[in-house]
Amino acid sequence: MSRILIVYGSTTGNTAAVAEAPGEQFRQAGHGVDVVDAANVTPAGLCAGRDAVLFGCSAWGTDDVELQEDFEPLFEAFDKIGVKGVKVAVFATGDSSFEHFCGAVDVIEARLAELGAVQLLEGLKLDGDLSANQQEVAAWGSRLLAELAG
Ligand SMILES: Cc1cc2nc3c(=O)[nH]c(=O)nc-3n(C[C@H](O)[C@H](O)[C@H](O)COP(=O)(O)O)c2cc1C
Repeated sequence: MSRILIVYGSTTGNTAAVAEAPGEQFRQAGHGVDVVDAANVTPAGLCAGRDAVLFGCSAWGTDDVELQEDFEPLFEAFDKIGVKGVKVAVFATGDSSFEHFCGAVDVIEARLAELGAVQLLEGLKLDGDLSANQQEVAAWGSRLLAELAG
């Protein structure tokens, strides 16, 4: 059994809904899972005792990528979360009409790599909400499960 944390920042609920889907997949596979809102986490030691951590965050900028407002303070404290050597993956919902489609995924992945995290899979970038992307989310969750098992 792996101990998995899924932490998301979400303003209108789109990324929050996506966070729950792999969470349920992992639970059904027998893993221990916590799904938490970035607004409610303490950054220091966030990854302690976790085998894998998933980060979900929407983007809100126009010219530049702006991370979702609850996730931003967590991101600024990423050096304190203890992510070195931890398996990670990043996901987002977004809108492909914006220049930086799901730009938070790239920003967060780059920072996690700098901090020595181990990327399990390439990030999941969803155009629209969960209902528009059910199969893609389920497939990504299945691939994560396979990576965790392997
Ligand atoms: C002012 C504004 C800026 C946005 N910027 C981006 C962006 O840069 N890239 C993107 O993919 N989506 C962008 N979006 C779309 C939202 O990120 C998208 O609706 C997302 O699903 C919201 O997720 P949340 O409800 O989890 O916060 C923007 C939306 C607004 C209103």
